[in-house]
Amino acid sequence: VAITFIEDNGTRHQVDAEPGTNLMEAATLNMVPGVLGMCGGICSCATCHCYVGDDWRAQAGAPAEGELQMLDAVTHRRPGSRLGCQVIVSEAMDGITITLPPDQD
Ligand code: FES
Repeated sequence: VAITFIEDNGTRHQVDAEPGTNLMEAATLNMVPGVLGMCGGICSCATCHCYVGDDWRAQAGAPAEGELQMLDAVTHRRPGSRLGCQVIVSEAMDGITITLPPDQD
């Protein structure tokens, strides 16, 4: 599944991810700067914050309550904000573009 991460400075990183993994893993395994994943993907650090574009929200699925609570605490929340570790990669997401916040505060 082809995923393009775009840093806040516009730098693009196209990576290939296995279905069933998540966006945080896809970014960190491919050394994409700007995604930390400090908690290892258990929805408790919010350092995997990213933005799913309007066109891809349906494919990315809906955030659960615990994720929404974590997102309440991030600095750069926008429409489309997600925690990357909570977005499971699926074949339907092939070609998805994910943008990253200026930092992971
Ligand atoms: Fe910690 Fe996603 S990696 S919340």
